[in-house]
Amino acid sequence: MARVTPADLTQTPIVDAPADPEITLVIFGASGDLTHRLLLPGLGTLLNRSGHSRLTLIGAAVEDLSDDAWRERVRDALASAQTRPARIDDVTSRTRYVRLDVTDPASIGPFVAALPADSVLYFALPPAVTLRACEALVGVALPPGLKLALEKPFGTSRATAHAANELLARLVPERQLFRVDHYLGKATVLNVLGLRFTNRMLQPVWNAEHIESVQIVVDEVLALEGRAGYYDKNGALKDMIQSHLLQVMAMIAMEEVSSLDEVEVRDLVVHALRATRLWTGDPATSSRRARYVAGRVGDRDIPRYVDEAGVDPARNTETLAEIDLRIDNSRWSGVKFTLRSGKALGDERNAVTVVFKPVAHVPTGFAGTPPRDVLLIGMKPQTIALQWSTNGAGDKFTLEETVLAAELGDSELRPYGEILEFLFAGDPLLSVRGDVAEECWRVVEPVLTAWAENRVPLEEYHAGSAGPQAWA
Ligand code: BG6
Repeated sequence: MARVTPADLTQTPIVDAPADPEITLVIFGASGDLTHRLLLPGLGTLLNRSGHSRLTLIGAAVEDLSDDAWRERVRDALASAQTRPARIDDVTSRTRYVRLDVTDPASIGPFVAALPADSVLYFALPPAVTLRACEALVGVALPPGLKLALEKPFGTSRATAHAANELLARLVPERQLFRVDHYLGKATVLNVLGLRFTNRMLQPVWNAEHIESVQIVVDEVLALEGRAGYYDKNGALKDMIQSHLLQVMAMIAMEEVSSLDEVEVRDLVVHALRATRLWTGDPATSSRRARYVAGRVGDRDIPRYVDEAGVDPARNTETLAEIDLRIDNSRWSGVKFTLRSGKALGDERNAVTVVFKPVAHVPTGFAGTPPRDVLLIGMKPQTIALQWSTNGAGDKFTLEETVLAAELGDSELRPYGEILEFLFAGDPLLSVRGDVAEECWRVVEPVLTAWAENRVPLEEYHAGSAGPQAWA
């Protein structure tokens, strides 16, 4: 697919592409934040590419909104992603808004039944509402090839994820279900497979014989940002580790794929997750949790988490979580995988760090211990760096660390654009399969139970710091 340059955005005429299939995309929760902030801008980046010229967008929500007001919102969100003006005009000329209650069978049922074949229903809604909408669709004559896209979290436990999967299976086959994880739409996350399986230098050393540990860290400087309604019921472990970071870990740990086919890749993802356990088997020694107190992040004063509007201190919600895992197979035996994520931290980190074991013998005569070889895969910004030891410039017998680093540049598609592209093509490669979602819950459930029973202390850290000192 051709790359789009800024000049193209204003100059290239929109090409009529009669061969493009007709796509109907319905967004439930059209008036919500996710639609405006992530979904439509992601769609905009996709529309900047050729194809998808016969897209009909339908916004649906309970809110009373005129077609004109909806059109303006769409225009605004697409423009925020520098979508070509011609594309914006094209989409907005055909878009419409429908007022409906997705949880009411009499409202959603006839609407969905009347959609054309192969339509896409995007539930940009809280999961509990999505499930009620899905219940309302049981027994409705759904259009053939209908695809459903759902937002995380997929369930709240292994059992509820399983029950949700059973409900969804009554509507459409698994291949038509798209459990969206925007981390799988990040180019670098997919690049993990490219890196691992297309580089002769890495392929033979990607195992416990050569790798000592792996850290997958997403430290955010952002604090709660008004999201208490969602975040306070979830916390860092469910919000980031149970979902995104376990997916990234599975990409790092999975066995070799022979093709990028969705069955092949997702079979190997679940295979790696099935072998994943807590490092010591005990949540008390394999997990840590903490919550921020007042501090300063950059030039912003951040209040105590428990003083944020909408937070219930009794919920003991953590804003920083860390777990140590092992993968019980011969490729990874003895390698510690640490997954960590938190909010209101001093430095933004969004990367996978692969630390290699030391060489078996350092030739006598070199001074000092060589630093470890480290491969750093940055997910945001998208970078790659390799740290290894070289002879020092001054004293040739002294070893020092040298870094080879590259910025991979921004992908022309935002993660949601990437996900929509696969969704429109009906390829669930970048979606979380039902059994994968259940397995992710199985991995974290012992930790959730131990935390609920207060068997792991809830520590504190100052907003703007690196987390509790003892964790360093
Ligand atoms: C979302 C979480 O899924 O991912 C947010 O709900 C988090 O809390 C976000 O901030 C992080 O995504 P990214 O792409 O900015 O790393």
